Amino acid sequence: MGLQGSGKSTWVRRHLAATHAVVSKDHWPNARRREARQQRVVAELLAEGRSVVVDNTNPSPDDRAALVALARQAGVPVRAVWFATPPEVCLARNAGRTGRARVPLVGVLATRARLVPPSTAEGFAHVEVVDGGPPGPPPDLVTGASTGGRNVSGAARRAPGPSAPVAAGIRDEGNDMSEAGTTGAPSRVAIVTGAARGIGAATALRLAQDGFAVAVLDLDEGQAKSTVEQIEAAGGRALAVGADVSDSEQVEAAVARIASELGAPTVLVNNAGVLRDNMLFKMSESDWDIVMNVHLRGAFLMTRAAQKHMIDQKWGRIVNLSSTSALGNRGQANYSTAKAGLQGFTKTLAIELGKFGVTANAIAPGFIETEMTKATADRMGIPFDDFIKGAASQIPVARTGKPEDIAHLVSFFVSEGAGFVSGQVVYAAGGPKA
Ligand SMILES: NC(=O)c1ccc[n+]([C@@H]2O[C@H](COP(=O)([O-])OP(=O)(O)OC[C@H]3O[C@@H](n4cnc5c(N)ncnc54)[C@H](O)[C@@H]3O)[C@@H](O)[C@H]2O)c1
Repeated sequence: MGLQGSGKSTWVRRHLAATHAVVSKDHWPNARRREARQQRVVAELLAEGRSVVVDNTNPSPDDRAALVALARQAGVPVRAVWFATPPEVCLARNAGRTGRARVPLVGVLATRARLVPPSTAEGFAHVEVVDGGPPGPPPDLVTGASTGGRNVSGAARRAPGPSAPVAAGIRDEGNDMSEAGTTGAPSRVAIVTGAARGIGAATALRLAQDGFAVAVLDLDEGQAKSTVEQIEAAGGRALAVGADVSDSEQVEAAVARIASELGAPTVLVNNAGVLRDNMLFKMSESDWDIVMNVHLRGAFLMTRAAQKHMIDQKWGRIVNLSSTSALGNRGQANYSTAKAGLQGFTKTLAIELGKFGVTANAIAPGFIETEMTKATADRMGIPFDDFIKGAASQIPVARTGKPEDIAHLVSFFVSEGAGFVSGQVVYAAGGPKA
């Protein structure tokens, strides 16, 4: 039972792509000199301090030596385990203290072995021989002793930043690797709450296009699945997760499930929201509590659960959905308080988490056409089209917003290049606010 043709690459992407740039020769299916291209990309990624997995089924001795030399040049402590004869199966890696993959990893994963997923005890993937025995490692590769030909552990020498999404991280002339789906699974994982519909669904779709694997989290798991189907139909990777963001047990379970099924989340978009509008004198305690619980407690619980993955990887992006109502809005004492609170939360996250490579920003949308604004129109007894026209007449760009307008801004905030923008609130309202 070899891994070749039986999902090895899928396994590698599922288990390692969240924390490493996976470089496979399959990225250049028709190219000549694919090995040289692969080595060039590996060299670039290592030079950037990225963790790299080389997914290469049966490297030639020259190929192997070149990859290991690259790792050495980059100061990556390579440890190797060799199985089988001839050395068709090899895992060259340095194993970290934990499974959190803080360390660079160069692996050459091959055919006649069974890859065993990271266990909590060991914390790192290892190879079990299915066919062939351990002949002992070639001396030029090994810097540590092997343990019965099975696993070799090594110490981490440095903690690099995380891998870029593969779709965006692999550069090669003549090959457009920028679209999701062309290189297989993306290597970063995003959670979008309230993503069954509206702004959240548009954001989930956009982040999938950007190369993220997306956890589509919502109270309404059924509808979350339809967002997932749209992402998958477009060639992306997503997981529907039913959870109430205001319930700590559900949040912890959801984030743990996402980490194990999609990979460690390093992007969180706190978007789930509800309205319970009423004039203050008519507002019930439950109207107040529900809004506070979903927006504030929900964002707090989700962020607390997700941040540990970001800190482990020394990279993260948090985006909170505030609102122009944070500036005050008649009939929304609860909602405007919660949305203003989210701005303070965002700034504090930026201050506390910045040193771990994590940014936090807030988006304060104006009128966006979604079920939420439609429900407001219904409650006021105004046809939605008229409601939209009325709102547009007050907006400098003379239109109301679409969910995609907000998704675009989220895409910016979570991008690699936005690392120096943190603690900001951007009003996306078709005109000046604040
Ligand atoms: N639409 C607008 O004009 C507008 C303007 C400013 C801010 N916002 C904010 O943007 C966000 C998205 O708004 P929208 O218009 O897309 O809303 P929407 O009502 O269309 O979608 C909200 C989603 O959140 C989910 N949700 C609600 N409570 C939840 C909970 N406890 N746990 C998990 N999921 C839950 C809902 O099931 C729904 O799918 C909200 O935070 C909202 O306050 C919207």
